[in-house]
Order: sequence, then structure tokens, then C-alpha cells
Amino acid sequence: MSQRIRKAVFPVAGLGTRFLPATKTVPKEMLPIIDKPLIQYAVDEAVEAGCDTLIFVTNRYKHAVADYFDKAYELEQKLEQAGKLEQLELVRNVLPSHVRAVFVTQAEALGLGHAVLCAKPIVGNEPFAVLLPDDLIWNRGPGALKQMADAAESSGASVIAVQDVPRDQTGSYGIVATETFSGREGRISAIVEKPSPETAPSTLAVVGRYVLSARIFDLLESTTPGAGGEIQLTDAIAALLAEHPVHAYRFRGTRFDCGTHIGLIEATIRYALDHEKLSDAAQQLMQNALKELGVTELE
Ligand code: UTP
Repeated sequence: MSQRIRKAVFPVAGLGTRFLPATKTVPKEMLPIIDKPLIQYAVDEAVEAGCDTLIFVTNRYKHAVADYFDKAYELEQKLEQAGKLEQLELVRNVLPSHVRAVFVTQAEALGLGHAVLCAKPIVGNEPFAVLLPDDLIWNRGPGALKQMADAAESSGASVIAVQDVPRDQTGSYGIVATETFSGREGRISAIVEKPSPETAPSTLAVVGRYVLSARIFDLLESTTPGAGGEIQLTDAIAALLAEHPVHAYRFRGTRFDCGTHIGLIEATIRYALDHEKLSDAAQQLMQNALKELGVTELE
């Protein structure tokens, strides 16, 4: 597979039920951390990794995602007339000019594996990335996908991001068993979706970043519904293991599960505390809030 990835798939056709009622009208991927929606962080990561074709798998209710990446003529004109050039740049730069966005519809939410399969006609026969925008990965150095794309290019393997989780949480993740790690990589020998803590083969959990061989599409086509009645990407990856090396990759960075309430809060706090302009004020108001609520006595 020793080929640089150019295409990235963003499966954003889920229902986002954990964020109802907000997600009645605002897709989960459009929830902001400070001033950027989750999808923008994932797009920036894919572009940094070298992708120039971004494929968004959406559903008929998610116009907001397509609208966000579309040109906003009226807004741009108004900002220009008002001399708000900094804001104008922000609006124009959601996608760099060399990058193209393609939208594909998943007619029915049949699972993550099915959503990825919807991108097959655009991806074709080359290795590609999958990013789940609700997994937000914060890192001061190169982004997680760039690290993985580099690893995939040099090993020729498919690469899946993993992180250690507490054993009592294995039921929320795909879990991998691996051969001994060399540096950040270990070849995956087994993968299972949401195992109970008692049956989990390890505590290494799959995080929403993948670099995959296009062979995965054929395997997805023959994957039957698994856990939760959905077509699981994990099941197709399990089949891929038999014919192609797939490596688990312990990325550098901190991952926030923004598909959960507490993960979104945690990410917001982290980005605020790390923000050039907001850090001092954020620290102060967090201390005030803890004091007022009597949670802790801070100086
Ligand atoms: P989740 O398991 O987080 O589901 O999907 P969800 O619908 O987004 O959110 P909840 O659990 O109801 O709150 C993981 C990723 O797979 C995508 C989702 O958009 C998300 O990025 N997905 C899931 C699809 O694109 N299509 C599907 O049929 C299912």
C-alpha cells in the first residue's frame, strides 16, 4: 500500500441522539469548540496530513455541513464592505483552495461501515483516511492523521489509531489484540466491537482515525449487520486482517470524545485554557465557578 493518502472520508450521517434536543436541527459535527465546529478541526487535520479530496457522507437533514463548506457570497461581501478582513479570511479559509469537497448521501443510517462504503465510488482503488469528527485530537506537534499517514506510507500497512482505556470501558469501543509494539505501532491480530470487560482481548481501544486499504470496500460489501444491527466497520477490518497487515498506532496527542457531554465539556475547557487570547480569562472564571459552587477553596 506504500502510497500517500489523498482522500479522506468523514462519516457524518449519524443521528447524534446523545445531543438531543440540540441535534434536532444542529448536526453534532457542527457543535463548536470555542469558535470552530468539530468538523473543521477534523478537516484541518486531514488537510495537514496531505489530503486534497474530502468526502462527507451526510444524510438529507444535514444541509448545515454542506452549507458550512460552501461559498457564502453575501456574508463575504458584507464583511468586505465593512472592512472586517480578519473575519473575511476566517470565512474564506474553511477549505484551502487546492482542496475539494464531495458530498455523498447515506440514505439510511445503517452503521459506520455502511457510511464508509457509500464513499467507494469517489475513493476508488487507493488507500484513504476515515476521520470521525466527534473524536477530537489535540496535539501541539503534527496531528494524529499526519502521524498515521507517515506510518502507513513507510510500512505499507493499514493503520488504525488506538489508545489505552480503563478496562470497565471496553464495552464502548472497538478493542484490538496486537503483536508486540515497535515504537508506536503494533500489528493487529484481532479486533472486536464493544466487548465486555471480561471478554475484551486487551484495553487498547480504537479511536476515530483510520488509514485503510481500498480492499475494505469489498469486505464491507459482504459484511452483514453486527452489533446493534448496524454494518460495523470493525467487522470488515476483522476480515481485512487475514489478507493485509493492519497496524494499531498509539498517536501523540490527547483525544476528547466529543460524542459525549463530558467529552465536549473537557475539550472546551482544554482549548480555552490553551487559547492565546482566552486562557487567562478562562482560568479565572473556572476558579470563580469552583469557588462559588463551594467545590473547592482556591486562593
Ligand atoms: P456514533 O456511534 O457516534 O452515532 O457514530 P451517532 O448517531 O453519530 O451519535 P449517537 O450515538 O446517536 O449520539 C460514529 C460516527 O459514525 C457516523 C456518525 O456520524 C459518527 O461520525 N455514522 C454512524 C454514520 O455516518 N452513519 C451511520 O449509519 C452511523
